[in-house]
Amino acid sequence: MSATPTKLEPLAIHGGTPVREKLLPYGRQSLDEEDIQAVAEVLRSDWLTTGPKVGEFEERFSAWVGAKYGVSFSSGTAALHAAAFAAGLGPGDEAITTPMTFCATANCVLYQGAKPVFADVSADTLNLDPGEVAKRVSPRTKAILAVDYAGHPADLDALRSLAERNGLLLIEDACHALGANYRGKRVGGIADMTVFSFHPVKHLTTGEGGMVTTNDAALAETMRRFRNHGISSEARQRQESGQWFYEMVLLGFNYRLTDIACALGISQLNKLEANLARRREIAAQYTKAFRNLPAIEVPAVRDGVDPAWHLYPIRLKQESLSVGRAEIFRALRAENIGVNVHYVPVHKHRYYRDRFAYQGGEYPVAEDAYERLISLPMFHSMTSQDVEDVIHALHKVVTNYAK
Ligand SMILES: Cc1ncc(COP(=O)(O)O)c(C=O)c1O
Repeated sequence: MSATPTKLEPLAIHGGTPVREKLLPYGRQSLDEEDIQAVAEVLRSDWLTTGPKVGEFEERFSAWVGAKYGVSFSSGTAALHAAAFAAGLGPGDEAITTPMTFCATANCVLYQGAKPVFADVSADTLNLDPGEVAKRVSPRTKAILAVDYAGHPADLDALRSLAERNGLLLIEDACHALGANYRGKRVGGIADMTVFSFHPVKHLTTGEGGMVTTNDAALAETMRRFRNHGISSEARQRQESGQWFYEMVLLGFNYRLTDIACALGISQLNKLEANLARRREIAAQYTKAFRNLPAIEVPAVRDGVDPAWHLYPIRLKQESLSVGRAEIFRALRAENIGVNVHYVPVHKHRYYRDRFAYQGGEYPVAEDAYERLISLPMFHSMTSQDVEDVIHALHKVVTNYAK
């Protein structure tokens, strides 16, 4: 099909033929035979969990992102919880974070009995606006918890100097941003702690899984204990040294990642560069196809940054359209394009509204973006035909609804 449809092509939502016969998801994993073999090998080995693959994955992953230490977890959420714990967050403390994220980012502060304080985002990247963060620093603030929204690194230099000036820790939720480049460095070794997720829609998957990278040995050690009930040594260390004694030194959880998952992670790491390159190629094609459409705002990329493109979120320009976001969303779905919305700003979730009495209107930039956002399909195994179909469908829908 052509990527430049005629103006009158009837929409599937109105009974026309959909651009695709089957739904194209917005994200999905890709596993190959090598990944399956790597997992099968572990299944035949002595260690299913906390064996040799865990350390190997942590070392290779942290080296790849450019950090001294990597501590793996059973999910990105568990990794965030560990980072909040290691930052020393507790009752009476605050961490400043963004509303434009998945709720897990802010929830980890609540797990520790501390309060997430939201600051509004910059209109171009939808990442934390350092000026807004500065306004919310108080004697109770202990950490800044930034998110690299959609894979575009947060304003890390500004946030780091703000953190340093105020004696705060900078935690970076890079669950979208594995492989993103910020001023010549990969994210992972820039903030005090950087958090990654290995959920299937991410750049690298272990099924469920996560990692925190850091250059600080003490933070790494605290997180290693935290993920293992707060115990000071691991079962494998005790078995190898022939010792039975262990001590619980802090209140931790079982947040361990298995050897099965880590074997998959190691194998996926071998393909990461190629997968990132493919995501960048797709993003470039989308941007080229959409940047001149009057109804569409394409994602901004700041100088000195190379995003990892976990998501490709467009914003609609409502003044150029005769219908709202909900109708455009439904029309794209009817064309079998698996669009999504990232995110309902965290303070707009009922739990947060009830607990913190948010009325709406507190974070106008995030709230305005939310009304206009649509995430297009973005995953590294998308074919050229998939990309063309998305381009075709979006042109078709916005042309039909042009004002
Ligand atoms: C920004 C962000 N933070 C944290 C998480 C939580 O990661 P996980 O699903 O691995 O627990 C996600 C998950 O998608 C995320 O997008």
